[in-house]
Amino acid sequence: MSSEVQRGPQPEATPSEQVWIFDTTLRDGEQSPGCSMNLPEKLSLARQLERLGVDVIEAGFPVASEGDFEAVKAIAQALREPVICGLARTGRGDIERAAQALEGARRPRIHTFIATSDIHLEHKLRMSRERVLEEIDRAVRQARGHVDDVEFSAEDATRSDRDFLVQAFTTALTAGASTLNVPDTVGYTTPDEFGALIRYLAERIPDLSRARLSVHCHDDLGLSVANSLAAVRAGARQVECTVNGIGERAGNTAMEEVVMAIRTRPDVFSGVHTAIRGEEIYPTSRLLSSIIGVAVQPNKAIVGANAFAHEAGIHQDGVLKAAITYEIMTPRSIGRSSNELVLGKHSGRHAFRERLTELGFGLEGEEFERAFKRFKDLADKKKSIFNEDLEAIVADAVVQSDERFEFRQLAVLSGSFPTPTATVELCIDGSPRKTTAAGVGPVDAIFKAVTELTETKSELVRYQVNAITAGLDAQGEVSVTLSEDGRRVIGHGAHYDVLVASTKAYVHALNKLEWHKRRRGAVEPRGV
Ligand code: KIV
Ligand code: ZN
Repeated sequence: MSSEVQRGPQPEATPSEQVWIFDTTLRDGEQSPGCSMNLPEKLSLARQLERLGVDVIEAGFPVASEGDFEAVKAIAQALREPVICGLARTGRGDIERAAQALEGARRPRIHTFIATSDIHLEHKLRMSRERVLEEIDRAVRQARGHVDDVEFSAEDATRSDRDFLVQAFTTALTAGASTLNVPDTVGYTTPDEFGALIRYLAERIPDLSRARLSVHCHDDLGLSVANSLAAVRAGARQVECTVNGIGERAGNTAMEEVVMAIRTRPDVFSGVHTAIRGEEIYPTSRLLSSIIGVAVQPNKAIVGANAFAHEAGIHQDGVLKAAITYEIMTPRSIGRSSNELVLGKHSGRHAFRERLTELGFGLEGEEFERAFKRFKDLADKKKSIFNEDLEAIVADAVVQSDERFEFRQLAVLSGSFPTPTATVELCIDGSPRKTTAAGVGPVDAIFKAVTELTETKSELVRYQVNAITAGLDAQGEVSVTLSEDGRRVIGHGAHYDVLVASTKAYVHALNKLEWHKRRRGAVEPRGV
């Protein structure tokens, strides 16, 4: 049962229909700049999405690159609960590649799409409407030859002729699609208009009860969540969304906002529910942020740092007297502990393991030992250890076995008169290496030393420092964006010494570039 505070009139006891949550963080989210992930990162996020209870994971666009293909394949083989979906244009090659990537999946889905707006037909596809209908029919039938579960999307649906849309969806349904998705590809529609479009389609597509109507909104006008919710009220039963709303341009519909709106306002969204486990929402948001190194804006609904912080005296007073005065849902209902102290320096191995398990991190063996050592080390320096600190410790302890560079030691001389110098020790391909370099500041000196040791030539694009929790003894969380040969990656590192965190973040980013280099040659430009 959800633990959020219930407000307003309670729903009547009518049978509730499930709105499927289709998560496209690993596809539409991952393809936005600065959000790319490597295979182990995608797998760890996919496992967390399964814990969260999403119905469908769109794991990638297999024909777009070898990396996407491998990710869809690995996720399809590793996960048993959710439907695993691969994206494909209507071309034969796309569909074959998606089918290959999904081999071995327990619940595979091919998601095929083509644009239906005249703007796209004329300027991008250079196809007639008749030709588009033929493509839809052939592609869906081809996909059905491989899997039972086929989704069809009419790209740029909200700028398409409504009656042509009815034709396109009817063609897909007749050819065997069981999900019909209505994307607002350019984030152009508004809630009233979109709700009306969904009703229009629902009334005119024959035999629609054989399929699930789905929506996929972008946030260019800041309306994607409102549009998706209007569509649910109009009969859509699948919402495509991403964690933290990451995605192309202004992003996609934020999963956590849709789920919590439906849950918190049963009077408005009567008769529908999602299968999301609320208490996994915040851990999922944190995991994604730590993987891609992109912090959530502090005032972001549900998962932002300030989403449950009551600063105004009158609010604090009210909340202390009765949470109902200013709180429409509890932090606990989304898995936030309101920053309560979780462990201290007297906590032992057992308490540490239990807390990690509660947070969803089942570390074993060497990884557990490394994390425990990091925790003890931190607890000696920092009075209060919060959940966020533990997440950073875990991220640090889970070292990928195939990483070339490993951080060992750092010593820095800095201040207002000496020339800043840094001595850095790394383990490179298993051998310890050490050097000293000077720079205009301590971070510059560190980065020069690391570049010299690793013999790399990437360009520093962005360097960002955040405090993980409040307080002067807070750990620093550093993100470093590097670019090399047109590829951008983000590395992150956390430590109570921000210079150590900076070194770790830089080394992490270099390891990501190395990972991509090993796969170079197989990468083709993406087509969406
Ligand atoms: O935005 C869009 O139209 C898409 C489709 C591929 C569903 O991402
Ligand atoms: Zn999209």
